[in-house]
Amino acid sequence: MEQVSHQETEEILRLAKLSLLQTGDFVELGCYKGDTSILLAKLLKDEKSDKKLWLYDSFAGLPEKTAEDSSTAGEQFKAGELFVSKREVIDKFRRANLPLPIIKKAFFEDLNPDADIPEEISFGFLDGDLYGSIKTSLKLVFPKLSKKGIIIVHDYNNPELPGSARAVDEFLRTHPEFRLTQKHTLAILSR
Ligand SMILES: C[S@@+](CC[C@H](N)C(=O)[O-])C[C@H]1O[C@@H](n2cnc3c(N)ncnc32)[C@H](O)[C@@H]1O
Repeated sequence: MEQVSHQETEEILRLAKLSLLQTGDFVELGCYKGDTSILLAKLLKDEKSDKKLWLYDSFAGLPEKTAEDSSTAGEQFKAGELFVSKREVIDKFRRANLPLPIIKKAFFEDLNPDADIPEEISFGFLDGDLYGSIKTSLKLVFPKLSKKGIIIVHDYNNPELPGSARAVDEFLRTHPEFRLTQKHTLAILSR
């Protein structure tokens, strides 16, 4: 099943292209099968950018939901769902003849901000579905975001995954320097 709609993908690529003008690498937290990752890598290649693409996933599927994720609309999304192997993502890049990104296999909560996250980020796509995953992703990415960098969080106002919006709204309350623009179910955060 398609995780990101066609319209959302267009918006993600439009903003990623704009971010090429800023310093810093691209990151995607929650890459799953790498469908969006491939398009980001292709953009970097086509634009002859020397930015690196960093991908993150447990490659063990989703972690457990927390109370913030509970929704009658979202009975699916159980722990272990959306499992894909790192090898599958690597093979996809090889088949597409694209340079291999940096791929980190870990639960976001176990990542080391110094060693595992690039020093500077111009574009971040956060797609971990759940409250805790988005909260942790924001905590890892925002301190490294370049001045005019962009963070996109997926599933904002998606009734099946209410934790995403909860994590974003909470972040905005505590980081008033960030503003929110919404397009489809994307929360676009910039300073
Ligand atoms: C909806 S999928 C991502 C779809 C992908 N971004 C795309 O565009 O096709 C969510 C992914 O996030 C990963 N994920 C969610 N929470 C995580 C966490 N806390 N740590 C590591 N991976 C996580 C899951 O394993 C899953 O592969």
